Amino acid sequence: MLSCFGEGVDAQLLDRKPFRFDHRLMGHPSLSIENLARVIPRLPASQVMYSTRMLSTSDNFEKTFRQRPLDRSIEETIETLRTSDSYIMVSSPQTDESLRDLYESLIGDVEALMHERGIAGKAVTPKLYLFLASPNSVTPFHIDRYSTFLLQFRGSKQVTVSMPFDDRVVTQENCENYVAYVNTQLPWRPELDAYSTCFDFAPGQALHIPFVAGHHVRNGAEDVSISMSIIFNTPETMMWREALNFNQRARKWFGRMGYRPAPVGEGGVRDGLKAGAWRAYARVRSY
Ligand SMILES: [Fe+2]
Repeated sequence: MLSCFGEGVDAQLLDRKPFRFDHRLMGHPSLSIENLARVIPRLPASQVMYSTRMLSTSDNFEKTFRQRPLDRSIEETIETLRTSDSYIMVSSPQTDESLRDLYESLIGDVEALMHERGIAGKAVTPKLYLFLASPNSVTPFHIDRYSTFLLQFRGSKQVTVSMPFDDRVVTQENCENYVAYVNTQLPWRPELDAYSTCFDFAPGQALHIPFVAGHHVRNGAEDVSISMSIIFNTPETMMWREALNFNQRARKWFGRMGYRPAPVGEGGVRDGLKAGAWRAYARVRSY
């Protein structure tokens, strides 16, 4: 039995389709606002990123946290969360003792699902994130270079998620450039939501966001939001990452000659071959 995730999780859908299910962590004492208000200011500043302005769905999510707000401390930001239009993102909060067991249990559940789907081995570079957000705050449209489980603890939100590798939502070229860190601004317009599923998301629920599935989040108006995500790669998503990097470079070098690389994520052996070529190129380049 899984210790954090509830019954009825279909492991076969991992990185194939977004899906919602229940988690078992409601009422966990480490995740109360009181404990978090104690833990977060004690963590190294490099693990605590925050913004003190309202974001919009079309903002560049990855650029949001590059500059630290000068007008407000983290303590004040947490205290005024209900009214301050703020967003706090904490990476690896399990460096505080009170969250360590929780982190270990989540990784255990993730690996149990991977094994159920026939993926051997351990989760690759897993990482835990904690999010605290003001009512109505928005996480702009973006994709992730990893697989995600998002868990909600307080406040409601709407999470809109597309299918992975849906070219209508994120073109292959934009996906390649994003994964290769060449351009992290993805074009978004409201009509794109027609191709996605909008999940109403409440405390006690969890959501799977597949590798490179486009998504954006809008928190409810009634309360602050506390949520957590466990992100990780699998041997399959690592292969896709490398194949996308291969495509990005090949398109850049040979695009002018009319070369259009075949899309990544369609199955078969092609992605594995591209990933192998990318690894060989990366090895040569590092000499
Ligand atoms: Fe994300």
